[in-house]
Amino acid sequence: MGRSAGRTAVITGAAQGIGQAIALRLAQEGARVAVLDLADTNVTAGLCRAAGAEVLARTVDVAQRGSIAAAVDEIAGAWGRIDIWVNNAGIFDDTPLEELSEARWDRVIDVNYKSMFLCCQLVAPLMKAQGWGRIVNLASMAAKVAFPNEVAYCSSKSAVVGLTRALAVELGPAGITVNAICPGPIDTEMLAYTYQRLADQNGITLDAWRARILETIPAGRYGQPADVAALVAFLASEDASFINAQAINIDGGMVFY
Ligand SMILES: NC(=O)c1ccc[n+]([C@@H]2O[C@H](COP(=O)([O-])OP(=O)(O)OC[C@H]3O[C@@H](n4cnc5c(N)ncnc54)[C@H](O)[C@@H]3O)[C@@H](O)[C@H]2O)c1
Repeated sequence: MGRSAGRTAVITGAAQGIGQAIALRLAQEGARVAVLDLADTNVTAGLCRAAGAEVLARTVDVAQRGSIAAAVDEIAGAWGRIDIWVNNAGIFDDTPLEELSEARWDRVIDVNYKSMFLCCQLVAPLMKAQGWGRIVNLASMAAKVAFPNEVAYCSSKSAVVGLTRALAVELGPAGITVNAICPGPIDTEMLAYTYQRLADQNGITLDAWRARILETIPAGRYGQPADVAALVAFLASEDASFINAQAINIDGGMVFY
């Protein structure tokens, strides 16, 4: 029996990468999973069903209240409860300050940050009524350390940590925990895209860039989506009921605070 047997979990940005690994892990832990994404979630849904889980797959733009509300209504209507909500969907941006348009700033903030406010506002009443809930928000090491040309991305991820703390103290008395996760470099399409651009800017190959960063990771390896999924599965479990309002690093030892 998995740690999330009988639970209902929702994962945003579940079509690939970290979100897909989280959905699969929660399915393996016994949860029913709803996988939401702008992109096609068929692959993720298939993996979760193969693990024995009941699955709902829906197209959702997490920056749009109506889009999320429709999914929440459908999931709650089908399964009667939502126990675990993982705010994972996100986009990267590396536009230098002076080239960053207001429209792009707004999109990064809306997808990475405002979406979490919208999702939490829509799911909190259900969790309060149940007297039990787990919310996990994907921030980043970029919430704690800054990188050049990432003003929108770093700001959005720092804001996620503030939102997490505020919601944790507001919802804690209702039996809900809210925590953020701050991953370092995790091998996904987002990282491949980011590192290719950084390698190009530095005039070196992708392999040379990856080797340079590897030297700064005390664990001596890159993170994998399954590493993050294991942490989410723990935070979503009964074992983590006294962990609340935290921004937990998962980065092989790169950041200490
Ligand atoms: N990969 C890393 O090294 C790393 C490090 C720190 C934090 N993160 C964070 O982890 C999360 C997942 O990252 P990843 O590396 O798996 O990224 P990814 O780009 O591989 O996957 C992100 C997913 O989010 C979806 N998405 C984007 N905008 C959306 C929207 N408006 N509505 C619904 N879905 C949307 C995409 O379609 C995609 O499936 C992100 O929040 C990211 O910022 C990643």
